[in-house]
Amino acid sequence: MVLSPGVMTLSDIIAKTDAYLIKTYSRSPAVAFVRGQGARLWDTDGKEYLDFLGGIAVVAVGHCHPKVTAAIQQQAATLVHTSNLYHIAPQALLAEKLFHLSGGYQSFFCNSGAEANEGAFKLARKHAKLTRGEGKYEIISTLGSFHGRTLMALTATGQTKYQQGFEPLAPGFKHVPFNDLDALRHAVTEHTCAIILEPIQGESGIHPCTPEYLQGAAALCREKGLLLILDEVQTEIARTGKMWAHEHYGVQPDIITLAKSLGNGVPIGALLAKPEVAASFQPGDHASTFGGNFLACAAALATLEVIEEENLVENAAKVGDYFMARLRETDGIAEVRGMGLMIGAQFTQPKAREIQNACIANGLLVNAIGDSVIRFEPPLNITTADVDEAMEILRKSMGHR
Ligand SMILES: Cc1ncc(COP(=O)(O)O)c(C=O)c1O
Repeated sequence: MVLSPGVMTLSDIIAKTDAYLIKTYSRSPAVAFVRGQGARLWDTDGKEYLDFLGGIAVVAVGHCHPKVTAAIQQQAATLVHTSNLYHIAPQALLAEKLFHLSGGYQSFFCNSGAEANEGAFKLARKHAKLTRGEGKYEIISTLGSFHGRTLMALTATGQTKYQQGFEPLAPGFKHVPFNDLDALRHAVTEHTCAIILEPIQGESGIHPCTPEYLQGAAALCREKGLLLILDEVQTEIARTGKMWAHEHYGVQPDIITLAKSLGNGVPIGALLAKPEVAASFQPGDHASTFGGNFLACAAALATLEVIEEENLVENAAKVGDYFMARLRETDGIAEVRGMGLMIGAQFTQPKAREIQNACIANGLLVNAIGDSVIRFEPPLNITTADVDEAMEILRKSMGHR
């Protein structure tokens, strides 16, 4: 059933949500969207919004991009799913595309960021066992990080608020302060197999690795024979104004995890590994029923093609710079962090939630993180005119004239 706009009112949707869904989301303020186009969404009352969150860095090429929609429609009418027991042409084509875009990494496809990280941890442990012997299982992560909600990814996540109530957590993880190279070096033991980092911590409020830190971590991994896993689930594919965030740092991770924007909203995650690391997985070691199916791969291929054809790496860099400059000149904003179109504005007052709600009421979707940060992760094909419109709504929502 495809629900036509207007068939259900917001109160109908809320009533059914409350009655039938497990309450894992707070969904406040209450709004439900019925239609999207580019960077615009329309709610159940027909009100228009400028979407500067993009499904939290998911809708890379805008809602219902005609090329992605056509690819989904065509693939859905041809073949949606077969088992991974058989060869899958769009999966092979997507892996080929990612191989070239990443400079030589092989792919395993799954369905989410957490699942991509689970696969990365398994691969790192297996690789260490095969190349360095028994007992090399420990993975070092950082405080403030976010790697997903499955048990291993949750354990890797460096924020206790997500972990409370779910103990015992998975063994074999430790956390060190972020952007502290000495702490990282001291945490390495004979049991360590890998370090996992986000090039820019997203969920902690948009905190980039310093160049010295990420480059130092890569050098430490080389020196000690560890794998560097970069969780690019939020920073991936043009978001930061480069195809991969690690390009800003000139480092080459051993494993990269992806998910959010790869399918422009159609669920797909990926684990990318250098061929010599990937070779540690043998048939039977890892699998996913849905991972890399026809529909998800067709959507991802079309998304990557749009990113290339519409020069969205360059656009994210150019429009992101413009946006950050506009934010920096705004009274009440103490600091602007980020790269490209992954941006966090730190307010001088702890009013992020209030400002977020005012923005939503005024037709701009943004996301408050904690008390004083708002994050912006709009589609990568927005224009400077969209930024001007967003700035007007943001300024009004902050109480500026
Ligand atoms: C850096 C990072 N890693 C992993 C995840 C988890 O991804 P998913 O929700 O698709 O499991 C997220 C989600 O926000 C993320 O930002």
